[in-house]
Amino acid sequence: MSDKVVLAYSGGLDTSVAIKWLHEKYNLDVIAVTIDVGNEKDFSAIRQKALDVGAVKAVVIDGKELFVKYFIFPSLQANALYEGQYPLATALSRPLMAKLLVDTAVAEGAVAIAHGCTGKGNDQVRFEVGIGALAPDMKIMAPAREWGMTREETIDYAQKNGIPIPITKSSPYSIDECLWGRAIECGVLEDPWTEPPADVFTWTKSPDKAPDKARYVEIGFEKGIPVTLDGKKLDGVTLIQTLNEVAGSHGVGRIDHIENRVVGIKSREIYEAPAAIALIQAHQALEAMNMSRDQLRFKQKVAVECADLIYNGLWFSQLNRDLSAYILSSQRYVTGTVRIKLFKGQSMVVGRKSPWSLYNLGLATYDSGDQFDQSHAEGFIRLWGLPVKTQAQIQLLGDKEGPLSIMGPEED
Ligand code: ARG
Repeated sequence: MSDKVVLAYSGGLDTSVAIKWLHEKYNLDVIAVTIDVGNEKDFSAIRQKALDVGAVKAVVIDGKELFVKYFIFPSLQANALYEGQYPLATALSRPLMAKLLVDTAVAEGAVAIAHGCTGKGNDQVRFEVGIGALAPDMKIMAPAREWGMTREETIDYAQKNGIPIPITKSSPYSIDECLWGRAIECGVLEDPWTEPPADVFTWTKSPDKAPDKARYVEIGFEKGIPVTLDGKKLDGVTLIQTLNEVAGSHGVGRIDHIENRVVGIKSREIYEAPAAIALIQAHQALEAMNMSRDQLRFKQKVAVECADLIYNGLWFSQLNRDLSAYILSSQRYVTGTVRIKLFKGQSMVVGRKSPWSLYNLGLATYDSGDQFDQSHAEGFIRLWGLPVKTQAQIQLLGDKEGPLSIMGPEED
């Protein structure tokens, strides 16, 4: 009897070829595991394809609820955006996949876990660091990194081995989808000066073709978690799916990003993430109203740490657990409703309300009803400016050496 390997199977060319290749080269029986994280795919067809190509067993695991609960929502609570732009869709899905692959490998008594990533991307890092953390003794295999075939050679190999290749001219792009967004790479997109052609986008309408009438959506949050859309209670998966459709139909969520990969490459990435963008904006708006300035400043720094850590494949680190505890605590009063306006590619926050709001009309208003005692401002400013005044008298104005440059550094 051959040893078993669990393969993360997407149904695409590389992982299909990997089923054959792992058996041919290492005499391993392949158990194909496909994880549904909200990618719009025909999972029963994928499962059947794995079996047709030669897997001894093929399973599809619905990971959507786990994905939302343990990965997407905590990341939303953190407002995690890699390099300020990318909501981390693919990056968030990998540690969940690592966990489910490890569980399956253990249950099946497999000797190894294999994935279809090449040696140039981030996903290999995320899979392998994740698997390494959860199952330190598990062997990891990366056929597409090892076999050294070009894309044409891979297609040849597939044809020789009767592995079905889509008859339609295969997409020139490399695409990865999950509930939190869609990533598109390769083809003409590799030229950073080229505008992404229309066929790149499938989740979002082109903003210039989006409806002329704006759509308003009210998002209800409880402790930083979105729980209602327009007053209707929805489970997390449905809420995200619905918002992807609604915001996407107004062209919201397109991102064009030159990003820094873990392996040192700069790459041009196109994303569609309508729900992620709308939800992060709305969540930030609620936090802006319900949190103190100091909390907001500190949390922004934590958001950068969280985003880097997720992107860099370090989900199962103790630092992530520490930061998660802080993020969770920070959300205690992030409850309320945010109204957003979706219009021609933009999602704008146009209203917010909350029982925990720190916004005080009596303090903010310039109309009658003003409770802010303006006479206190004078003394406050005197103390506030005291260190600046003291330093300026001694150094800025008192320095007899060299020319005074009060407005800024002189150019040479
Ligand atoms: N650049 C993004 C990331 O590293 C998206 C990667 C998409 N993955 C893929 N296999 N096409 O998270």
